[in-house]
Amino acid sequence: MRLAAALLALIALVAARSDARKEGSFLLRPPAALPSKLHGQRLTSVNATQSASAPLFLNANTTKFAVNGSAIPLVDFDVGESYSGLMPISSDPKDPNQLFFWFFPSQNPNSTKQIMIWLNGGPGCSSFEGLFQENGPFLWQYGTLKPFPNRWSWTNLVHTVWVEQPIGTGFTQGTPNATSEEEIAEQFKGFWKNFVNTFGLHGYEIYISGESYAGLYCPYIASAMLSEKNPTYFKLSGMLIYDPVITKTEIQQLIPLKLFTDYWGGLFPFNDTFREEISKKDKKCGYTSFVNKYLTYPPPGQQPDKLPGTDGNGTTTDECGSILNDSFEAISWLNPCFDIYQVATTCPLLYDPLGFPGSFSYLPEGGEIYFARADVQAAIHAPNVTWEECANGVLTTDTSLPSNIHVLPKVIEATKNVIIANGALDMIIMSNGTLLGIQNMTWGGKLGFERKPEEPFYVPYHNEDPSLASIAASGVFGTTHSERGLTWVSVNLAGHMVPQYAPTAAYRQVEVLLGRVKSLSSTDPFTTDPEVPQSTSPLGKGTGQQGYACEEESKPAKGWSAKALKHRRRLM
Ligand SMILES: *[C@@H]1O[C@H](CO)[C@@H](O)[C@H](O)[C@H]1NC(C)=O
Ligand SMILES: *[C@@H]1O[C@H](CO)[C@@H](O)[C@H](O)[C@H]1NC(C)=O
Ligand SMILES: *[C@@H]1O[C@H](CO)[C@@H](O)[C@H](O)[C@H]1NC(C)=O
Ligand SMILES: *[C@@H]1O[C@H](CO)[C@@H](O)[C@H](O)[C@H]1NC(C)=O
Ligand SMILES: *[C@@H]1O[C@H](CO)[C@@H](O)[C@H](O)[C@H]1NC(C)=O
Ligand SMILES: *[C@@H]1O[C@H](CO)[C@@H](O)[C@H](O)[C@H]1NC(C)=O
Ligand SMILES: *[C@@H]1O[C@H](CO)[C@@H](O)[C@H](O)[C@H]1NC(C)=O
Ligand SMILES: *[C@@H]1O[C@H](CO)[C@@H](O)[C@H](O)[C@H]1NC(C)=O
Ligand SMILES: *[C@@H]1O[C@H](CO)[C@@H](O)[C@H](O)[C@H]1NC(C)=O
Ligand SMILES: *[C@@H]1O[C@H](CO)[C@@H](O)[C@H](O)[C@H]1NC(C)=O
Ligand SMILES: *[C@@H]1O[C@H](CO)[C@@H](O)[C@H](O)[C@H]1NC(C)=O
Repeated sequence: MRLAAALLALIALVAARSDARKEGSFLLRPPAALPSKLHGQRLTSVNATQSASAPLFLNANTTKFAVNGSAIPLVDFDVGESYSGLMPISSDPKDPNQLFFWFFPSQNPNSTKQIMIWLNGGPGCSSFEGLFQENGPFLWQYGTLKPFPNRWSWTNLVHTVWVEQPIGTGFTQGTPNATSEEEIAEQFKGFWKNFVNTFGLHGYEIYISGESYAGLYCPYIASAMLSEKNPTYFKLSGMLIYDPVITKTEIQQLIPLKLFTDYWGGLFPFNDTFREEISKKDKKCGYTSFVNKYLTYPPPGQQPDKLPGTDGNGTTTDECGSILNDSFEAISWLNPCFDIYQVATTCPLLYDPLGFPGSFSYLPEGGEIYFARADVQAAIHAPNVTWEECANGVLTTDTSLPSNIHVLPKVIEATKNVIIANGALDMIIMSNGTLLGIQNMTWGGKLGFERKPEEPFYVPYHNEDPSLASIAASGVFGTTHSERGLTWVSVNLAGHMVPQYAPTAAYRQVEVLLGRVKSLSSTDPFTTDPEVPQSTSPLGKGTGQQGYACEEESKPAKGWSAKALKHRRRLM
């Protein structure tokens, strides 16, 4: 994707201010406890590790990758069968360019011939962030004492592999010289053939999932797999992407920003002078009016190539770009622990064994980065490198078009099974921006969604984890909508890393992707927790947090002063 120079510069400045490890990581790094509330269902013990079963994939070809699940440093339980290591990106077994993977088979009998791939974004961020803090079989999340078994591990549903890619990321080896998504997809396909051959996954249905910048990786890789027309290796069957980069950066990060800070007014308690200043700029730059015009169902037409607030070269002007810069600056004075990935976060900064608990990196004295430990590296056959959650120098130039232009439509049309989800509390990729990306995409012969999203997204009631370590939400938890093979879902109370903040929501999305539950509005219980009684009262129209321009004028957020409200009306 081409990033407008001014926006890049401004992001870099914000990143510098906040001492983020790298601008890319700040930009698009994919980056709970209360009394157990049960809804009349019985409380049973949950055993996520399934460690005693005979290994499913252990043979002469795979033993060198086998991980001893009882010997993972600082993890005091058996994480079960798994395999990890380096694998080349071509058929040359001596190819120095190798991706690193960690593969966890599932004991679920429904997962016999299905495999899920998970990719984090960046570019340059390790997919072990997802494995270790979002959707893996064991998690060590920020602010928690030690690793715990994840009740909502995706491996309870399907064989899942977390892949560090492209070259230059995490434990990967080789020279990071890719400059486009097309090249990255080629690398991945080379790796994938080797992976399929090693684990005997020929003919498996492939599901690809990811987050953030993986909104480029996933559709480009999926599209390249489809082009192979080779179901032995590349039977691409569906895709699930969270808070994904699918369109121009300005549309997802900048243009909806003023509306976003208004909507969440109580979390952005800007002073009157500043609010007025931002309103003036927003009006001058034409941002809110752009949202109001194009976030309609059906959309009025294609969004112009030249965005509002840009100069003759299509570059965002410093003045317009400063809406993001200045808002970040202003909120950081008021809330120094402000987390652009989850805007309801306040101080203190939490300890994070991956060193990146919010908008910027933070590792208190005495802390250590888990995957940089020599014993961890030895346990998973990793090379001895200074592992970082987000590495520099990866894909510093990406010449590919936004994914909503060609590849995303192609994947939707071919599979009729694509889910795009966005966390409502994410400011680095805002729901309204992602919806704008959808409304400028043509698939199945039509532009955008024709009808406005207003179906309820239902997360089943379930047996809670008696240890309380992975208790998670249930009930109507957002808004969903499907047309022509694409499903949109906005996830309440979730930041950028949806499976981390809303693990049950993500688990249900995976069930739907795999075809085990028919829709995101279904009130069927979780397939792995089938006895639990579910809601019988009406679900309503969904509780998604974004408004829609075709409704009557959006209501002011609570926390607005009367003065600011008057001002806003005048500006709209
Ligand atoms: C989980 O399952 C394994 C293997 O069946 C067993 O050894 C272990 O005790 C179980 N753990 C709990 C907490 O039930
Ligand atoms: C191991 O790999 C070789 C070469 O690809 C293959 O012929 C053989 O069947 C594999 N063995 C197993 C047990 O999958
Ligand atoms: C796995 O690790 C445990 C704990 O260190 C050890 O007791 C066990 O022998 C190991 N198993 C194998 C197969 O190496
Ligand atoms: C990247 O490096 C690989 C191997 O080192 C080489 O085959 C490939 O041509 C390079 N690509 C570019 C774009 O330089
Ligand atoms: C999204 O855009 C709509 C339409 O302009 C607006 O009413 C709503 O407040 C926005 N929501 C957020 C969370 O920014
Ligand atoms: C909208 O889509 C058209 C057609 O793909 C494309 O040319 C245009 O650049 C897009 N506009 C934006 C703002 O992304
Ligand atoms: C557009 O780009 C050209 C070449 O880089 C530059 O000379 C010119 O000043 C730019 N125009 C504007 C309005 O920024
Ligand atoms: C971003 O904010 C910093 C710090 O306030 C300021 O120095 C810089 O000029 C701003 N950049 C833009 C593009 O507005
Ligand atoms: C209002 O907020 C802006 C942005 O943070 C700041 O520059 C200004 O000093 C603030 N005014 C007061 C009175 O704090
Ligand atoms: C890893 O590499 C570092 C630096 O090259 C070296 O000091 C250290 O001994 C190595 N550790 C192991 C376990 O090989
Ligand atoms: C397998 O899938 C079916 C639906 O296709 C579901 O009813 C059943 O509960 C699933 N079993 C498990 C163990 O997930």
